[in-house]
Amino acid sequence: MLHSWTSLLLLSLAFSAALQVPGRRQTNNGVHLAITPTCGKLGGAFANVNAGVITSGIKTLVAFGDSYTSGGRSDGGPLAAAVLNGTSPRAGGRVTDGPVWAEDVASDLGATIKDYAVSGAVVNVTLWPSKAGQSDFLHQAALFLSQNNALNSATTLYTVFFGINDFSASSTDGNHLPQAAAELLTQIKQLASAPINARNVVVLDDYGRGKHSATGDAWKQAVFDGLSSLRAQGLNVAFVDFAPLWDGVLGSSPGFAAFGYANSGACIPNLSQTDLSGECSTPLNSFYWLPGHPSKETHRIMADYVNFVLAKCKA
Ligand SMILES: *[C@@H]1O[C@H](CO)[C@@H](O)[C@H](O)[C@H]1NC(C)=O
Ligand SMILES: *[C@@H]1O[C@H](CO)[C@@H](O)[C@H](O)[C@H]1NC(C)=O
Ligand SMILES: *[C@@H]1O[C@H](CO)[C@@H](O)[C@H](O)[C@H]1NC(C)=O
Repeated sequence: MLHSWTSLLLLSLAFSAALQVPGRRQTNNGVHLAITPTCGKLGGAFANVNAGVITSGIKTLVAFGDSYTSGGRSDGGPLAAAVLNGTSPRAGGRVTDGPVWAEDVASDLGATIKDYAVSGAVVNVTLWPSKAGQSDFLHQAALFLSQNNALNSATTLYTVFFGINDFSASSTDGNHLPQAAAELLTQIKQLASAPINARNVVVLDDYGRGKHSATGDAWKQAVFDGLSSLRAQGLNVAFVDFAPLWDGVLGSSPGFAAFGYANSGACIPNLSQTDLSGECSTPLNSFYWLPGHPSKETHRIMADYVNFVLAKCKA
């Protein structure tokens, strides 16, 4: 009896080890999602939730956002190869050394990405004098609308990922985050109306990149609350909160090493440099590639995080 239980235990251990998908770990240079996203519900405190967003049959992923989402081209057209070329630290113009999370998610879905994200983008640039000249969601959505893309709503997934640059501007320009949250929701409402009639919208947040503040949390909550209203109006919505991922890597629970990182810093020392000088000795195991910007391995686990929320946080 004891023997058979031991065998069963060993068998189940072997089985769960097999479920760790060693191929994925190898392909991502040993970096893996070492935490399990926690799910919540609409109508309460902000949390990971998928209220009706479908992923099967999606053919097109339309992405709005900042450098975290930018594939190096912002008109929805085909992106340059996501590889480092020559001495530039930017793979095909991306602020990273490979594909960004949205490209990974699109690839996982078997969908084509139409990327409108631009580095430095905020929700509404007029709110933030210190960001004058930067892109915003208003302009990205206007460009998308002007193209009359005629996408099938039933097979198109929209992703909206702003807040990092709005939050950083709020320390200079004052707290206009409540207005930014309201205007982000207004843009989503516009996408959900004729002629686009978006049906599936995923909103993502990482405003503080590991920092937490009352004004930042209020921004996140306002966006989350707005999604409840949109859901009540029939839109399929999901919310992905990356804060636990950043906390898990930058804090001690479980800490960067548990994810397979050699450190929690950046591999390339200066965000504005145009060459690879000073590159770290562990380029494939760095949390950030350029300062403040996820490495391609981090983008991969961000995509894993998104996939988990969409699949498991159904509410
Ligand atoms: C790398 O750069 C060269 C020269 O600019 C260019 O001809 C080539 O297409 C690039 N390769 C990739 C994969 O982007
Ligand atoms: C953007 O912000 C400015 C300044 O507050 C405001 O006047 C304008 O109406 C906003 N635009 C939109 C579309 O909300
Ligand atoms: C980064 O590089 C820019 C341009 O070379 C330089 O002006 C700046 O001082 C550098 N920043 C740091 C933190 O080294």
